Amino acid sequence: MCGIVGHLGPNNPMDTVLEGLSRLEYRGYDSAGIAYVDDKSELHFYKKKGKLANLVSLLEKEKHTVVGCIGHTRWATHGEVNDANSHPHTHGKISIVHNGIIENAPSLKNELASEGFEFQSDTDSEVFLALVTSNLKNGMDFLPAVSEAFKRTDGNSAFVVLNAETSEILAIKRGAPLVAGLHEANSDASVSSDPYALVGSSETIYFPGDEVLVLLSKRHNDIISFYELDGTESKNYKSKKQEMSLEATDKGDFEHFMLKEIYEQPGLTRDLIQFYLAGDGADLLNKVSAWKPEKFHISACGTAAYAGMVIRDFIEQRNRIPCAVELASEFRYRNPLLREGEVGLFISQSGETADTLAAQGLCVENKMKTLSIVNVEGSTLYRDCDENLLIRAGIEIGVASTKAFTQQALTGCLLSYAIAGDLESEEKKKTIADKYSLLAERIDDILARVDELKKIAEEIYNYNGFFFTGRGQYFPVALEGALKLKEIAYVHAEGYASGELKHGPIALIDDQMVNIAIVGPALFDKTISNIQEIKARRGVIVGLGPKGESDLDDICDFKFDLNFDGLEELSPLYVNVANQLLAYYMAKFKGTDIDKPRNLAKSVTVE
Ligand code: AGP
Repeated sequence: MCGIVGHLGPNNPMDTVLEGLSRLEYRGYDSAGIAYVDDKSELHFYKKKGKLANLVSLLEKEKHTVVGCIGHTRWATHGEVNDANSHPHTHGKISIVHNGIIENAPSLKNELASEGFEFQSDTDSEVFLALVTSNLKNGMDFLPAVSEAFKRTDGNSAFVVLNAETSEILAIKRGAPLVAGLHEANSDASVSSDPYALVGSSETIYFPGDEVLVLLSKRHNDIISFYELDGTESKNYKSKKQEMSLEATDKGDFEHFMLKEIYEQPGLTRDLIQFYLAGDGADLLNKVSAWKPEKFHISACGTAAYAGMVIRDFIEQRNRIPCAVELASEFRYRNPLLREGEVGLFISQSGETADTLAAQGLCVENKMKTLSIVNVEGSTLYRDCDENLLIRAGIEIGVASTKAFTQQALTGCLLSYAIAGDLESEEKKKTIADKYSLLAERIDDILARVDELKKIAEEIYNYNGFFFTGRGQYFPVALEGALKLKEIAYVHAEGYASGELKHGPIALIDDQMVNIAIVGPALFDKTISNIQEIKARRGVIVGLGPKGESDLDDICDFKFDLNFDGLEELSPLYVNVANQLLAYYMAKFKGTDIDKPRNLAKSVTVE
């Protein structure tokens, strides 16, 4: 939530920051802003409500030589969306950008206001600016001024501070994402919320620990240096070569990243199986299986939580190990029963979701082993867990998660095979590989028939509301289908267990309501009866189910045929692709901003 970036050095700091912000815009797009120091040590700043493009048009006539620059893209937490509340916040020669929440901002604000600081915004972030400037006014040097200010803040935050007096940038974080990047020549250095923002500008990426000050300065031999809060040098950081390529950040011929990411799914399914069966992944799966968990506590948010439900079914059915799936935001405060010997399993695309991280921390406190199924290598979750199963989805840019869901579920399925000992036998490995390749083929088949789904989307997108229904293994994908539609098409949609509608929601059914009914081979007749109940109340039925079943075909207003033969347990993932495309085309007919839907941010780093 919120993207922050900073760059010092001769290689176009402003352009680098704007490029970084454009890559971080998925983290929030309520407003954008930059501040920079020129070669005369003057500070300049610009900020604008709305998307980054609004800010860029303000900067067209900028002619100064930029020495260092910081920038921000906002997802509002404190204070409405307007120019004043946009970052950076600036006072004298200091400018700051912030991602997170300063929990004790109200009391600090009162204190600083009574000392005479004139606040210009309603944000919590400006409190940090006030603390830093007050420390500088009291004679502190830049580093202790930031360090002491940081110590006074409660809550999870990352800050980047530009000092135009010294032409230096300092960054620090607690429980929020922050990385630093170094240009090979040691001439330029950057900080940002995410390594993705630094693709093309940094060859080495550093991952500082919490409460480590990252200083970008030309006054030292190394343009990046790390310090503890007491000002001593810090070794609390990791580094690795930047592995992401610019190509991955391109939409190619697709109109939206979301569509590109949907189409990547068959290829990613094939790569995943290759890695975990033939590559390095098998050892990792076997290592985790050797933990012999008594129970899994699966915790995640949003789409990742629905993937968790799919994984629960894989593990409980194949391994008969109990699995509890809980939303991380509930799990962390519910005082759940946790025991040593049980395993915390955390699912996340970003690896930075605040609630999921807190849930992981709770399991660690309870002496449990923790495992992630995660996309971003090096993310906080990745670093905090005992072991990590990477889902190998590549960068996911569309705010609505698609390929990550599929890869998370498929990775969880491989874990269940490993626990069952199936990776010990070449014959069983071949059977698994065949299943994954059949799934990839079937997804390819859905993608080839996209026009059918587009046609259905065109027919239904203007209805009042949507119920996605499914039983058993299809219930999680009913929930996920509804979430996808809500977030990108801005229509009311709910995911429901097919048998549950009659316990209340059926009161909503009339001829303006659509039921997207997932009908698998299991419990076929019962599911048909549930659809009949909707049909009898004039609901519009879109059936996603097997071909040639007249009982189903006869009650559907619209039908999309699915071939479940030989796919059994992986079929929810296949059905889900049809839901993804339905949501995508309904949003397209509605004319919404598909890759950056309103009010959302891809990485939810506040609780
Ligand atoms: C999915 O489309 C969402 N945008 C959202 O629900 C997301 O899955 C959730 O915020 C969890 O994110 P994570 O996977 O990065 O932890």
